[in-house]
Amino acid sequence: MKISMIGTGYVGLVSGVCFAEFGFDVTCVDIDAAKIERLNRLEVPIYEPGLDEVLARNHAAGRLTFTTDFDAAVASSDVVFIAVGTPSRRGDGEADLTYVFDAARRIARAMKPGAVVVIKSTVVVGTCRKVKEIIAAERPDVDFSIASNPEFLREGSAIEDFMRPDRVIAGVEDERGEAALRRLYRPLNLREAPLVVSSLENAELTKYAANAFLAMKITFINEIADLCEKVGGDVQRVATGIGLDNRIGSKFLHAGPGYGGSCFPKDTTAIAATARKLGAPLRLIETTIEVNEARKKAMAQRVLAALGPQTAGRIVAVFGVAFKPNTDDVRDAPSLVIIPELQKAGVTVRAHDPEGRAQAEPLLPGVVWCEGPYEAAEGADAVAVLTEWNVYRGLDLGKLKECMAGRMVVDMRNIYRPEEAAAAGLRHIGIGKPPAG
Ligand code: UGA
Repeated sequence: MKISMIGTGYVGLVSGVCFAEFGFDVTCVDIDAAKIERLNRLEVPIYEPGLDEVLARNHAAGRLTFTTDFDAAVASSDVVFIAVGTPSRRGDGEADLTYVFDAARRIARAMKPGAVVVIKSTVVVGTCRKVKEIIAAERPDVDFSIASNPEFLREGSAIEDFMRPDRVIAGVEDERGEAALRRLYRPLNLREAPLVVSSLENAELTKYAANAFLAMKITFINEIADLCEKVGGDVQRVATGIGLDNRIGSKFLHAGPGYGGSCFPKDTTAIAATARKLGAPLRLIETTIEVNEARKKAMAQRVLAALGPQTAGRIVAVFGVAFKPNTDDVRDAPSLVIIPELQKAGVTVRAHDPEGRAQAEPLLPGVVWCEGPYEAAEGADAVAVLTEWNVYRGLDLGKLKECMAGRMVVDMRNIYRPEEAAAAGLRHIGIGKPPAG
């Protein structure tokens, strides 16, 4: 079975590479010629652990090719995936579907009869049907199928998530679409990872509902963390306690500086906007968005409070600017709100991130970039941990204290044990637990 993957962004590239790993013949297509050239030189444009290796292996085996020749790729494919971007539209926050519809038009002109067009991009409910109409209008003579197959990959563990998913969602409306998706995912052990076959609309909604629910779960535990602080509780103990209830589940209960990234902020905004427009507002999600935005600012206030009344001229070392570890992605990262707030109060920010600097630098003027965490802590009045990279977990806290001018550690990811930090002479201010030291 031949596949073409339209769009070599995060989702398209990871999915294309993984389908090739399953043994299918995959052509990844992009309009960005420079990107395709780089991919053909086996240079991976994103930071994703393990991706370069799987990509190189399948390219060498001849199963994975990269091209800008859209028509040729589509014309020879049995299955065509649309994995182009769906950014938030300015103004109303709804997903911008221009790229999806453009891709649909071009696919229609080039596809062979009997092709299955699968939408992988995150699209609002109703989009698959519109894509079907677009294709049918362009090529009324040609028989084809449409399907929805949203992805649930997390940045930083995308390969693992693709190879060992909790489930695969297949939105279909005919047997050919269902058969194609069943065949594509057959290499997975589908007893462990069920294929949930449903309508196009249900599949589209499942993706948004899943992300909205997870964003809400994180926001819930963040508010419980605030409450813990008021009563001398420890949010990590509370999260463990509630997470052991199978109905709740232990994942996505880590309190922190608020969720960020390219998915949760965009998808919650999009589904809330669509739902409101349709007269079925998602009030829990609207509140989630509001609480999460406020939280990032509150985190900056927490750092400023740790510095005391005099903030101008003070130095803060920021550990991590990426929205989470194992990625260089800084889209909607808490750092993009927290750092400018600190600077507004006259603070000098010295920052380190193992991978995120290149993306963050143009967005965060005035930051002093450092090669390592100890260097960032040099002369700092406070350290603020924004991203839980492993490299920060293992630091020698005594050495960290020696580098610093002050002793405040605002640990927004609870990566240090308060007693250990206190023993090293630091004052540990975690999330949802009593300060120590
Ligand atoms: C998320 C979903 O987890 C994926 O299933 C989905 O496919 C993807 O969005 C998408 O729609 O493409 P991702 O944004 O890569 O994946 O990262 P997550 O690991 O979900 O983290 C998102 C944010 O939530 C990060 O800022 C992270 O720090 C924060 N988070 C996560 C917490 O603050 N606490 C937690 O317990 C978990």
